[in-house]
Amino acid sequence: MFRLKTVVLCAALALAAPIALAADKVVIAPPAPGSVSREQGLDAWGRIFEVTSHPRCSNCHVGERNRPMWSGPSYGKTQVHGMNIIAGESRIGAEFLPCATCHAASETGNDVDHAAPQVDDDWRLAPVEAQWFGKSSVEICNQLRDPARNGERSFMDLARHLDHDVILHWAWKPGGSRQPAPYSLQEHVNDILTWGVAGQPCTND
Ligand code: HEC
Ligand code: HEC
Repeated sequence: MFRLKTVVLCAALALAAPIALAADKVVIAPPAPGSVSREQGLDAWGRIFEVTSHPRCSNCHVGERNRPMWSGPSYGKTQVHGMNIIAGESRIGAEFLPCATCHAASETGNDVDHAAPQVDDDWRLAPVEAQWFGKSSVEICNQLRDPARNGERSFMDLARHLDHDVILHWAWKPGGSRQPAPYSLQEHVNDILTWGVAGQPCTND
């Protein structure tokens, strides 16, 4: 009897994650070609920058020092990741202590303050050319529309990437005292599409 209950409980836990993600499914519906002005595109960009520069995103989108950051209200002051964590060129800490030692996926949720976020077994730093931490709006804007620095993605590919990544779903529901990224994942996807249909304008054009 005890055994059966355990099996049922485990099955319920195993199902919980996919169901939660399915409920978050975003819709990718770009505005009609030619229907978005440069001004509207730049407005959308302004909101996109609020997201990309937010700690839930920029703590991982760091440069060639290969050091994740601890920043945002839950951390108090901005600092490099404690415990001398270095991601190395592998960006997963393979040369030192692998990120997955502490950041492996778990079903327990992430409500314990100051615990390592456990979302994905593939927790790693973003590529160096996708550095956002400490960069200005115009710098990130030019990066994100440059295929050589955005993983060869069109704006449609960027929107689809945002939906597929479990880490991004976490960034809007981080749990505990961590502040979620601004707006919602759906609004962020809509802004990427609006900016894209406007021709991906940046303020320096
Ligand atoms: C755990 C670290 C981590 C966090 C947190 C994170 N990212 Fe990333 N991001 C990555 C990695 C790794 C890649 C490269 C993945 C790939 O190319 O398939 C990436 C790539 C991207 C890309 C593809 C374009 C590019 O410039 O390479 C976008 C867009 C992106 N992230 C958006 C976000 C947003 C928005 C947030 C916050 C809501 C965020 N990321 C938070 C690790 C992270
Ligand atoms: C020894 C355990 C450990 C290892 C290994 C580790 N981390 Fe962490 N990490 C933590 C803890 C604990 C926190 C949360 C600290 C807090 O909230 O005060 C954290 C937080 C983070 C954050 C901030 C998340 C946010 O937005 O609040 C990032 C980014 C991060 N780690 C990236 C990495 C990367 C990349 C690696 C591998 C190169 C790595 N960590 C290796 C324990 C670890």
